[in-house]
Amino acid sequence: MKALVYHGPGKKALEDRPMPEIRDAGDAIVKVSKTTICGTDLHILKGDVPSCEPGRILGHEGVGIIEKVGPGVTTMKPGDHVLISCITSCGKCDSCRKGMYSHCATGGWILGNRIDGTQAEYVRIPHAETSLYLIPQGMDEEAVVMLSDILPTGFECGVMNGKIKPGDTVAIVGAGPIGLAALLTAQFYAPSEIIMIDLDDNRLSVSKKFGATATVNSKNEDAAKRVMDMTEGRGVDVAIEAVGVPATFHLCEEIVAAGGTIANVGVHGVKVDLHLEKLWDRNITITTRLVDTVTTPMLLKTVRSKKIDPKSLITHRFTIDTILDAYETFGKAADTKALKVVIAAK
Ligand SMILES: NC(=O)c1ccc[n+]([C@@H]2O[C@H](COP(=O)([O-])OP(=O)(O)OC[C@H]3O[C@@H](n4cnc5c(N)ncnc54)[C@H](O)[C@@H]3O)[C@@H](O)[C@H]2O)c1
Ligand SMILES: [Zn+2]
Ligand SMILES: [Zn+2]
Repeated sequence: MKALVYHGPGKKALEDRPMPEIRDAGDAIVKVSKTTICGTDLHILKGDVPSCEPGRILGHEGVGIIEKVGPGVTTMKPGDHVLISCITSCGKCDSCRKGMYSHCATGGWILGNRIDGTQAEYVRIPHAETSLYLIPQGMDEEAVVMLSDILPTGFECGVMNGKIKPGDTVAIVGAGPIGLAALLTAQFYAPSEIIMIDLDDNRLSVSKKFGATATVNSKNEDAAKRVMDMTEGRGVDVAIEAVGVPATFHLCEEIVAAGGTIANVGVHGVKVDLHLEKLWDRNITITTRLVDTVTTPMLLKTVRSKKIDPKSLITHRFTIDTILDAYETFGKAADTKALKVVIAAK
């Protein structure tokens, strides 16, 4: 089968690989019909994720049809149409019993990282019954692929941890796929203002279409000052950090209102200063989280009932044969205006 294989920093290739096989009783083999590329795959290719070793098939997002199941799988069968979660969970360990699937003792984020992933014609999914979700009939596969990672991430790490309430003022720093997923799902709670902050005018204009009430390009102006002016000096009730660099966390520290929350979503590779000398008396909360994907069933319903339309995040389409072009397009997002690229089976 065809697969996109990581060969160490800066190196990847489309190769023929053997079909995956059932190894444990709870496994399923899924024939991938649609997958996509995540910013995290680009992090792996830069060499930022040492747990992902050369030889690994990348990808942690996808939908497909179950081809085979192990003897322990009773609630799913060959032919079932399934969503593949980016987080693998056993459903039984201490973390899973707390709903913290991201820290599952034998799962978590392993797909396309510690085990072979979804950017292939077939993928082995361990703990299949608790890591795959049956797709209700009639749902658009492209919309469903957005539920593997970006929607639960924006919603759980940004919106839920940020405790957005009706009437709140919200700022989302970073208008990439994750920041935009937070923007879409924040609107479940009817905040009064959602200010999107980014360096990319194209992404900011997309944000306006997706429901942002204001946008700020922090390349051209002092974003903290602008947000404080817009909020009459109070700052925002919820500041969502969806970039993962010190400057954007610092911006959240500057714009959070008294009593507010900074919900960090970004993956940080270097240390960030915590300005307690300014924040100690502000009654604020700071949260961090690795996406658990516990809200996937709920988000599936919101997509099915058309409360949100995540398909609108898709800008480019490829097939597994042209996945290298998909990487090229996604990797040059500033020039190509790419948000999410979908890679279909042939
Ligand atoms: N916590 C989790 O479980 C989890 C899961 C998935 C992804 N993530 C992380 O979420 C973050 C966002 O993911 P994404 O796929 O949307 O990334 P992305 O790179 O596509 O988007 C980031 C956006 O931030 C903007 N940006 C960069 N520097 C900026 C600055 N100084 N000020 C304002 N904007 C700036 C970029 O223009 C871009 O639009 C990444 O750090 C990613 O690794 C976290
Ligand atoms: Zn991802
Ligand atoms: Zn577990």
